[in-house]
Amino acid sequence: MLNAVSMRRTAQFGDEGDEHQEDGSKTRKQLSIATRVTNYLTRAGYLWPILFLAIVIFAIYSLFIRSGNLVCVSSISSFDRLSRTRFFGLDGLESDFGSLGVPWCRSKHGKTIEWTSKDLLQGLEAFVPIYETRPIKNNMYGMGFDHSFGLWFITRWLKPELMIESGAFKGHSTWILRQAMPNTPIISLTPRHPAKYLLKGPAYVDQNCTYFAGKDFVDFGNVNWSKVMKKHGVNDSSQVLIFFDDHQNELKRLKQALKAGFSHLVFEDNYDTGTGDHYSLRQICDQFYIQGGGHSCFKDSDEARQRRKRKQFWEKAVDINDLCGPHEAWWGVKGYMRDDFNHTNKQISHTQHFQNSRFVESIVDVYWELPPVAGPSLTQQTRYDPARVSNPIVEDGRFGLFQRLGLSRLEETVFNGYTQMVYVKISLDEM
Ligand SMILES: C[S@@+](CC[C@H](N)C(=O)[O-])C[C@H]1O[C@@H](n2cnc3c(N)ncnc32)[C@H](O)[C@@H]1O
Ligand SMILES: *[C@@H]1O[C@H](CO)[C@@H](O)[C@H](O)[C@H]1NC(C)=O
Ligand SMILES: *[C@@H]1O[C@H](CO)[C@@H](O)[C@H](O)[C@H]1NC(C)=O
Ligand SMILES: *[C@@H]1O[C@H](CO)[C@@H](O)[C@H](O)[C@H]1NC(C)=O
Ligand SMILES: *[C@@H]1O[C@H](CO)[C@@H](O)[C@H](O)[C@H]1NC(C)=O
Repeated sequence: MLNAVSMRRTAQFGDEGDEHQEDGSKTRKQLSIATRVTNYLTRAGYLWPILFLAIVIFAIYSLFIRSGNLVCVSSISSFDRLSRTRFFGLDGLESDFGSLGVPWCRSKHGKTIEWTSKDLLQGLEAFVPIYETRPIKNNMYGMGFDHSFGLWFITRWLKPELMIESGAFKGHSTWILRQAMPNTPIISLTPRHPAKYLLKGPAYVDQNCTYFAGKDFVDFGNVNWSKVMKKHGVNDSSQVLIFFDDHQNELKRLKQALKAGFSHLVFEDNYDTGTGDHYSLRQICDQFYIQGGGHSCFKDSDEARQRRKRKQFWEKAVDINDLCGPHEAWWGVKGYMRDDFNHTNKQISHTQHFQNSRFVESIVDVYWELPPVAGPSLTQQTRYDPARVSNPIVEDGRFGLFQRLGLSRLEETVFNGYTQMVYVKISLDEM
């Protein structure tokens, strides 16, 4: 806490230092005009003591006004960051959790994950040096630090016998899975083989991975999984971990996974209501009966006011105008169920949306959203709105811990991809 605050102070003083330098040059100009005027008046010969006094007072006065303006102008660059902190306060970043509510899916029997925040902290400490050795340093359009850690942590905890990933891009997530489980087979489904990216730059191709890619690509929903599992010597589908990062409708993926008998799933992009290119679990579970769920499309509502305010500070915050479509449709994205990178886009009624959530809740045993690794004042991320996510693993103000875990060594940009990655355990049985 103290550390973070003093960091900010230094930054602020730094800015002011620059301002004073600029002030100096302005002062010189100002004085020379004043001197010239006084010289003229002196030459004119009469009433000069009174006039001189008046002019000096005026010059000093206008100087103050000018430098006041200067402060505003030259601090615009740091305005965003600082004003956000002033606006919400450092503590506000933390306690904002839930001020707009967080629509989590309810689990059937109230079961939850085994791991604790202490496990997550220990995991972070172990993961940072691993992450630093990643082959793909710039993974734009792919996973950043938060989700890489989440996938690694969940995989290492569950210790599956087989890992399946859908959507590999250059292979960063394949590499993460491999770091978590060095000797476990991986199956990767992705239209373009990661080896293709190797021709142009960094990519990762795993030696113990079966690729359904290029001309061998098959969509997850079209694979005969019992056949493929048998081929890999795995007979228990509950020992398989599925990682989805393929931007497909998550309701569709959930049904396909259930049909194949899988129970441990991770969805990389669990977009908030009103955002994203595919229908997500979070969107599905966003219902009036869940805290923070369901939305008022009334333009003068508290929600509208809060959203408008928050939109100024967080890129991914959603204004009521962006949230609500015609006929006050707020579910999914303006009443649409998006699929396949937003290439397919289907309007659904609220009744259908509600039924989807009932279905999801009937099969979810555990629903856990990975928290952001560290608070926005530490990572300097400006995208996700802290009001709509769980408390970060390293909370705002804990700069010492942030530093001790090695997180301050990472580039700020790696923290910019957080979209509520979620782990779900599903089953059909009622017990
Ligand atoms: C966001 S990228 C994945 C990023 C990757 N997991 C990483 O760690 O950086 C999405 C990937 O999904 C692939 N994709 C598109 N349609 C797919 C499908 N039906 N099944 C599997 N992957 C698909 C895209 O080609 C792309 O490589
Ligand atoms: C692949 O995994 C097996 C164990 O499952 C291991 O014996 C083998 O060395 C691995 N091969 C490579 C290239 O990593
Ligand atoms: C899947 O493969 C198995 C053989 O391992 C076969 O018996 C079964 O009919 C196949 N299922 C489908 C839907 O094709
Ligand atoms: C899976 O195979 C193992 C042997 O590899 C066997 O002991 C076990 O009973 C099998 N489980 C199922 C569910 O068939
Ligand atoms: C998603 O698709 C719809 C039409 O199908 C389009 O209006 C909208 O702008 C698209 N959004 C994004 C973010 O691509």
